[in-house]
Amino acid sequence: MKKLSLILSVAAIFLAAKSEAQTPSLRDAFKNDFLIGTAMNTWQIEGKDTAGDRLIKQQFNAVTPENCMKAEIIQPGWDKYNFELADKLVAFAKKNNIKVNAHNLIWHSQLPAFMHHMQSADSVRQYFENHITKVASRYDGKVYSWDVVNEALNEDGTLRKDIFLDKLGDDYIVEAFRLAQKAAPHTKLYYNDYNIEQPKKRVGAIALIKKIQAAGVRIDGVGIQGHWKAGVVPMADIEESIKEFSALGIDVMFTELDLSVLPNPWDKVTADVSETAQGSAKMNPYTKALPDSMQQLLAKSYADLFTLFMKYKKNIGRVTFWGVNDGQSWLNGFPIRGRTNYPLLFDRNFKPKPAFYSVIATAKK
Ligand code: G3I
Repeated sequence: MKKLSLILSVAAIFLAAKSEAQTPSLRDAFKNDFLIGTAMNTWQIEGKDTAGDRLIKQQFNAVTPENCMKAEIIQPGWDKYNFELADKLVAFAKKNNIKVNAHNLIWHSQLPAFMHHMQSADSVRQYFENHITKVASRYDGKVYSWDVVNEALNEDGTLRKDIFLDKLGDDYIVEAFRLAQKAAPHTKLYYNDYNIEQPKKRVGAIALIKKIQAAGVRIDGVGIQGHWKAGVVPMADIEESIKEFSALGIDVMFTELDLSVLPNPWDKVTADVSETAQGSAKMNPYTKALPDSMQQLLAKSYADLFTLFMKYKKNIGRVTFWGVNDGQSWLNGFPIRGRTNYPLLFDRNFKPKPAFYSVIATAKK
């Protein structure tokens, strides 16, 4: 009996590896077009998610740390840095011929605790200069690129009011890129944000990029995060943004791509918060599985997007998914905790979904 179950489990592993080996690879399919990446979480970086790591090596030639290179983790104390996970990520990537887009140096969120109530502008400037210089210089030439500044704009294109704008003034973004270019001369430098395909916010992002360029400071690209919704992807705005951003002579990237299949509280104007409250079946309709109709809607949305990316492949440097499989996605916990979302190309068993094959099909056209 014991011998039989051993044979069966070996057979199962062999078959899984065999079917995986037969699965086409995104990195090979788009190797002449643009980098294909994924966000990598702590478990994957620590090698605790072996199936995830295997898929990352097979499918992707770029990775972005989902959290481990953010300020609250990489600089937990005024003079205290923790490079353990970031070093592991860089080593994994080097070993597997994968490029790292480091994320991120300056962001209003996930700041170290000591920054939360900092009043003195001098202290904020000290932190700002130390953090960029210390962290960016350590990984210069080891990472391919940095999201130097992340999410500094409001939806109307004006600068977001945060501790950096408040204490350092309007020029803090130019200063961040100036410090990064000095600390990391061998690393590409990007501005990264969500909804900058939207007309008003796009105007703000273009003004921001032109200001850096006018100051004679290096910026190599702009990252459009791409947190969209299946079936309502703003295709015309995305195409217009590719044209307008590439006209600035910089790379355009789609850096945190995922397509939610779940209703959002703001989808439906309702005053009845219980409808949008956690646990409402209406807001979490696919707890068991995603119906085929939604699989097809997701596959169509991804196919339309990648058809557009292929049309502008000369202007697009990278497309990164914000997670390896549906189970890892932040969209299971946002904007409502405890939901079951299916926004990516691989399911919770690391199996390719119809959307995966619709994306691969666009590479062949
Ligand atoms: O590590 C702690 C753990 O020790 C603790 O037990 C647990 C319980 O609360 O929290 C863990 O930290 C969480 C962290 O992810 C790691 O899992 C934080 O609470 C949680 O807020 C954090 O969420 C991240 C979020 O950024 C924070 O803003 C998501 O994983 C990450 O996907 C998301 O990524 C952002 C991009 O950086 C920028 N663009 C938007 C995107 C989605 O919000």
